[in-house]
Amino acid sequence: MGKKNINQVSPILIGLMGCGKSSIGRRLAKRLEIPLIDLDDYIVAKAGRTIPEIFAEQGEEAFRDMESAALREVLGKPAVIATGGGAIMREENRALMKEHPPVIWLNAAPEFLADRIDGDSNRPLIAKGETLKKLQKLAEVRYPLYETCADYTVPRGEMKKRKVLKSILRFLKGWKSEQG
Ligand code: S3P
Repeated sequence: MGKKNINQVSPILIGLMGCGKSSIGRRLAKRLEIPLIDLDDYIVAKAGRTIPEIFAEQGEEAFRDMESAALREVLGKPAVIATGGGAIMREENRALMKEHPPVIWLNAAPEFLADRIDGDSNRPLIAKGETLKKLQKLAEVRYPLYETCADYTVPRGEMKKRKVLKSILRFLKGWKSEQG
C-alpha cells in the first residue's frame, strides 16, 4: 500500500499528560502530510487564555466544556488530532472519538511520565507537587477509558519516539487496508 492511502487517515492520539501526544503528533502529521491539531492549543487560541487561567478563573468543568466543544469542531477534519489527557473522561467525548477512528493510545506508566512533566506550571492538575502520586491516581481512573477508546496501543514508555512513530505508521497501513 502506498503513502497516498495512509494520507487519508485522521488519527486521534490519546494518553496521559507527558506521553508525547503533541510531539509524536507533530512528527506523524509531517509524515502523513496533514496538519496537526493540538486540542489544548485550539482551546487556548479560542478562549484567549492559558489553560491555568481557564482552570483558575472558570474551573475545570468549564475547561471540559470547551474541550468537548473543541473536539466536536475538529473531528472529521483531515488532521492528526492530539487530545488533552483528560479528553476521554466524558462519555460523549469517548463516543465521538469512537465514531472517528483510528484512536491511538500512547500508553506510558506514571513513573515514566512523572519526571518529564514535574514542575510544569502549564498543567494545573499536577501543579503544587506530588506529580507521581497524582499521575498514579489519574492512571487508575483513566487507563480503562483509554483502553476502551483505543484501536491501537503503543507502549510509549518502552520505545523511543522514532520507534513509536514507526509502530504507528505500520499500524495505520494495516488499519487502512482493513477498511478497504
Ligand atoms: C489535562 C491534560 C492537559 C490539559 C489539561 C488537563 C488532563 O493536556 O488538557 O491540563 O486532564 O490530563 P496534556 O495531556 O496535553 O498535558
